[in-house]
Amino acid sequence: MNSTSTPVYRAAHVSEAPAIAAASRLHVEYGLRWRWTPTRVRQEILDPDTMVLVSSLRGDLAGFAIMHFGDERAHLQLLAVLPPYRRAGIGTAMLAWLEKSCVTAGIQQIRLEVRSANRAAREFYARAGYKYLGQIGGYYDGHEAASVMARELYPAAALDRHRPDKR
Ligand SMILES: CC(C)(COP(=O)(O)OP(=O)(O)OC[C@H]1O[C@@H](n2cnc3c(N)ncnc32)[C@H](O)[C@@H]1OP(=O)(O)O)[C@@H](O)C(=O)NCCC(=O)NCCS
Repeated sequence: MNSTSTPVYRAAHVSEAPAIAAASRLHVEYGLRWRWTPTRVRQEILDPDTMVLVSSLRGDLAGFAIMHFGDERAHLQLLAVLPPYRRAGIGTAMLAWLEKSCVTAGIQQIRLEVRSANRAAREFYARAGYKYLGQIGGYYDGHEAASVMARELYPAAALDRHRPDKR
């Protein structure tokens, strides 16, 4: 990545659904049934409870993430950085962007599933503070395991400090 260029982080446009879906198929869903089709990504972009975030560099798609916001918990459904742009902090910046949105919305926990065989992604999430909660066998197409990981945004200790009776 050119060191003089700075990525932009913003909500995806509907017109970007095909590019996001194609990148998911190639870089996330390889070897699996294609679930994040252009139609599904488009639906997520239009869903008010979902954020489809893109990182764009000089107009090119550098990364994307899809997060569904519940009342107390958010689910990170997809996150990827395209190969030429990796190891430059874009994945971390997208996570931070989404985490900030969660805190603003009062969400306490972010959960995600990642292919257990995807060591790089598990290390990436661990480095970002996500804890391994367990494994779900056959989560992907009935034959590939998922590792469940989560990050607490409001640890109990921090909440305790803000309760009047603890002051
Ligand atoms: C995992 C992924 C999102 C990381 O994105 P990225 O922008 O390259 O990550 P960052 O530059 O923010 O990396 C932050 C830290 O995560 C860890 N990390 C990132 N990629 C790693 C790798 N391939 N191997 C081991 N650790 C890695 C490192 O600790 C890294 O810090 P460092 O570069 O100072 O060593 C990217 O490699 C990717 O898109 N992979 C394919 C899709 C995927 O697996 N998505 C996740 C599951 S949906």
